[in-house]
Formats: sequence, structure tokens, C-alpha cells
Amino acid sequence: MKKEKVKCWEVFACKDKECPAYKSKNLRCWLFSGTHCRNEIQGKFIEKAELCLSCEVFNENMDVAALKETIKTIDTQFKEFRGIVDDKDREMENMSLELALGLSEAFEGLKKISSGDPEVKIPETSEVELIAKLKHMVNMTAENIGEIVDQSHEFAMGLAEHFDVLHRVSTGDLNAKVTGGSQIELMESLKNVTNEMIESISREITERRKAEASLHQSEEKYLDLYQNAPDGYHSIGPDGTFIEVNNTWLRMFDYERDEVIGKKKLTDLLTDDGMKIFQETFTQLKSKGSVENIEYEIKRKDGTFLPVVLNATAIYDKDGNFLRTRSILRDNSERKSYENMLLHSAQEWRSTFDSMPYGVMLLDNEFNIIRANIYISKLMGIPIEDMLKKKCYELIHDRDKPLDNCLLMKSGKLSNPLPFEFYEPRLDKYFMAYSTPIYTDGGPVKSYVHALVDITEIKNKEKELIISRNAFFNMLKDVDFSYAELKGLYDGLIHAFANAIDAKSKWTKGHSERVTHYAVAIAKEMGLSEKDIETLRIAALLHDVGKIGTYDVILDKPGRLNDEELELIKMHPVKGEEILRPIKQLQDILPIIRHHHERIDGKGYPDGLKGEKIPLLPRVIAVADSFDSMTSDRPYRPAPSREYAISELKKYSGIQFDPQAVEAFLRIL
Ligand SMILES: [Fe+2]
Repeated sequence: MKKEKVKCWEVFACKDKECPAYKSKNLRCWLFSGTHCRNEIQGKFIEKAELCLSCEVFNENMDVAALKETIKTIDTQFKEFRGIVDDKDREMENMSLELALGLSEAFEGLKKISSGDPEVKIPETSEVELIAKLKHMVNMTAENIGEIVDQSHEFAMGLAEHFDVLHRVSTGDLNAKVTGGSQIELMESLKNVTNEMIESISREITERRKAEASLHQSEEKYLDLYQNAPDGYHSIGPDGTFIEVNNTWLRMFDYERDEVIGKKKLTDLLTDDGMKIFQETFTQLKSKGSVENIEYEIKRKDGTFLPVVLNATAIYDKDGNFLRTRSILRDNSERKSYENMLLHSAQEWRSTFDSMPYGVMLLDNEFNIIRANIYISKLMGIPIEDMLKKKCYELIHDRDKPLDNCLLMKSGKLSNPLPFEFYEPRLDKYFMAYSTPIYTDGGPVKSYVHALVDITEIKNKEKELIISRNAFFNMLKDVDFSYAELKGLYDGLIHAFANAIDAKSKWTKGHSERVTHYAVAIAKEMGLSEKDIETLRIAALLHDVGKIGTYDVILDKPGRLNDEELELIKMHPVKGEEILRPIKQLQDILPIIRHHHERIDGKGYPDGLKGEKIPLLPRVIAVADSFDSMTSDRPYRPAPSREYAISELKKYSGIQFDPQAVEAFLRIL
């Protein structure tokens, strides 16, 4: 009976999970390569088979007899296998020769290809398959390389064209472009890149040209500014030779550039005084680095000199050695001209100052004499330079402090100080002092002009005049007395004359005095002037003076007068004017006498004047005369009533009489 088969991993209590036999249903562990018999891989197949023969599990499971038979068979097969191997070894020896030859050919081909000959072609036959394949690959490589070389040529040509175009663009041909197609994709791409690059370069070049043009304009502008600046510019080297001048400099001195640069030195163009200044200031410039406001006179080409003001800075090399100057020259002739004018003005002023016929001093706030003219010097008997060390009160008053009422002290405080008059006993002279404050820039008073006029002679004359004046006033008093007497006499004569006129007839007694009374009252009411009233007074007293030449019988006739008699009466104003005409003092009253019988309506006499043509004063007398006549008895009638006279004045106001005179009279009656 056959034993039950066992499992190796159960018999050996093996837990090697990695072993293919572990827990497998197949019991023939030894058939599996890689089984882990007893926790380790057990030897090669043959060794394993031998091991298996002593294995408990193997013996349990296998038919050992059959196995031995098998091993025997295997042994036989091994022997056959070895025979085959020996045959193969011999075969391999022959193949090695073929292989070497084939490889040699292949390497030779590769060598040619690598040396640049892609035309190489080697026979591809070989008994060794590998070599045949290798040779084929060599030939394929040669073909590919040849193709690559061709493409490289096209590539190189394309590159050359690109470089040519780029070169043309860089030299300014912005219209250059890469043309033509390329079979190579890379070249197409490169062409596009190149064309884009050209456009970019084109833009850059255009912008650069614009920038260059702008820079050029800017440079030209600054060059023009430098060349034609308002001031001259020059640069001289360590020995004073001109290195550079601008156009303004050349125009200032009228030289050509090539006459100056490198040929002349600044010292060639200076005066003797200028040379001294140059020697001092050039040393200073080199050591300090700058000099300012140096005044020179520089010789023009025609030999005349131009005054200039020079400002210069020094330029040094990196080691601090002086290289050259940078000098600006400004035309100073106008300023010099002003200076000369000022100097001339100062001389004129000094001459004027000294030729004044009175003393003039300029004083400061502390009474110090700043200037004085010759007049004061002579007056005080002190040279001008000595006066300038004194204070004015020391000089004038011989005091150690100012006078209490010193004009100088007042003049700074008063807007319009009066002149000050004083007697200086030391000099036995009278002076009139004028003090004028000088305000600087609207600030406080800094100085005073003090003028002293010697009025001694005037004062002496004044004393004489006072004596004369007193005598004159006394005389005037006498004259005044005489005048009053004369006035009284005159008035008396006038009144006497008036009375004489009125006395010609008993009917007219007191008429002139009354008319005068009324007329003066009317004139005052009308607001006439004092002068007019006085003239009116005299005229009223004498208004009928012409009646002196009229026959008394006519004046005293009791009945109405006939035409002839009336004509005689009407002549009295003209006669009166004639009687008084020779008297010079009575010329003003002549028109009044002549026109005191004129009427406003022009029907009066002697001239028949109308309205405003009749002077005002005779119009006043006419009202007063008529009123007195109407209120007095006459040889041909008794006196009418006062009311009648008033009604007549009203009735004929504006016809015979002046309305204003009538109104004034009616107000005061
Ligand atoms: Fe009269």
C-alpha cells in the first residue's frame, strides 16, 4: 500500500512565507525553482535532486526508483548537451573572425563619415547578422549625415543672408529685408525673428537719430550761448597765453581768433597798472582758485583801451597743478563813464559848496562836522581838516555842549523848522541858521545840512531901519491928523456948497440934505457897499448943483412953467456935471449928477437912458429926490400928503422909478 503523501512545510514546520511550496496544494516542491527548502534556497537543480534523495518528504511522496531512472536519463541528456556545446564552441571561433572583419569595415566607414565624407558606402553582406545590421546602420548614417551636411549648407547660406541684411541695417539701410522662402523650418523661424529684429533696430535707429538731432540742436544752442553770451570769455594758460576766447570777447576787442589763440598773452594787452594788478591777482587765482571783480583796461586792436571787470576761476589737473583760467569779462565802460560823471559832479558840488557866500556844514546826529565849506573855514580861521575833528557847538559857540535852543535839535523833530537867528559874542556877529534834516530811505534822521548866513550887516541896517521906522510912524501920525482935518474941511465945503444951492430958493431949503438922508437910507437897505454909499452921499448933496446957473425967477415961479422955462430947468444935470468936472476928487459922482433925472421908461433927461442903462446910484437919487419934492411945498402948490407921495412912487415903480429902490424905500419909511 502506498503511503499518504505529506507536505514539506508541515513536516519541517516551515513558515517561510516566501517559499512557493508554503501552503501550496502542489507537493512537488523540488520541481519549483526558488523553493526554500528548510528556510533556504537549496542549491542548483542537480544538487537539489541529490539533496532530495535524502529528503524525508521526498521519499514519502516520490517513487525513488523512477527518480533514479529519470536521473539516468538526465545524465544521458547532459552528455548530449555537452556535445552540442562543444560543437557551438567551434562554430563561435569561426564567427569571431567574421565579426572582426565586419567590425573593421564598419569602423572604417564611420571614420570616413567623421572626417566629412558622407558619400561612403560599405557592402552590407556578412555571415554574422549583427555585423550586417551594423554595416547597414553605417550606410544609413552616411546618408543621414550627407543630408544634414546639405541642410547645413542651406542653413549657412541663410545665416549669411541674415548677417548681410543685419549689416546693411546697421549701416543705415532700413529698407533691407530677408527675402525668399526656406525649406527649413528653423530658417523660416529665424527669418521672422531677423525681420522683427530689423524692425526693432530700425525703430531704435530712427529714435537714436532723432535723439542725435535733438542733441545736436542742443549742442548748437549752448555753443551759440557760449559764443555770443553778453559777457566776454577767455581762458589763459600758466604763462598767460590765450587758450580760448569766445566771439563776444573778439567783438569787444576787435581781434580775429587766430590773432589771439596761442599768440598773445593777457599781459600783452594790459596797461602798466594792469600789469601790476595781474601779477598780484594771477598768483592769487592759482593758489586760491578764484578772483573777483578785477578791473582792467584791455587794449583793443586799434590801440584804444576798453575798461572791463574780470571774474576768474582756476582749472587744475587731477594732481592739483594749475592748467588754465576760466575768465568772464564784462564791459565796464558805462560804469566808468558814470563814475567819471559822479566824480565830475562831486567836483562841481565841491566848487559850488566852497563858493557859497555863506557857511555850510554837514553834521551827523552827534553834532560832529562831516563836511564844511571854505566860508566857514575862513570865518572861524581854522583849516577844513581841523574842523572835521570838532563838534559844531565847539566850533561855532566855543562851548562843550549845544545851545539850549539849538535849531539842529529841533529840526529833526519839526516838519518845517523856522530859521534860527543868534548873536555870537565871540565873533561879534549875527547869524541866521538854517537846518535841514536828511532822511535816509525813509528812516530816522542820519545827518543835517546846517547853513550859517552872516546877517551882521543886515542887523545893523535893521537897527537903522527901526530908528527910521519910528520917525516914519511919528510922521504918519502927523499926516493922519492933517488928513482928518482935510476930510472935515472937505465935508464942510460940500455941505456949505449944498446949502448954497438950496438957498437960491426958499422952496428948496434943506432939499439936498433931505434927499441925501433918504438916498443913503435906501442904499443901506439895498445893501450897497460903503464906498458906493459914500459916493452916493456926496452926489446926493450936490445933485442939483447945476441949478446955480438957473434964474431964480424960474425956480420961484408960482404957476406952471412954460416949455422954454422947462428946457432951462432940464439943463441943470448937464450944467452940474460941467461945474464939478474940474474937481479931480469928484470924478466918480459926475455920472450920478448927469443922470439923476433919467426914467426907467427912457422918457427922462438929459440922455433918455432906459432901465439898466441908467447907473444904479442916480436911480436911487431919483426916488429920494421925487419923494422929497412931492412932500415939500412948491410955489405953484402946497405939499401933497405923504400917502399921495407913496402911492405915486408905487404907481410909477418900473415906469419912472427903479422898482428895487422904491421897494427898499417903502420898507424903511
Ligand atoms: Fe434935480
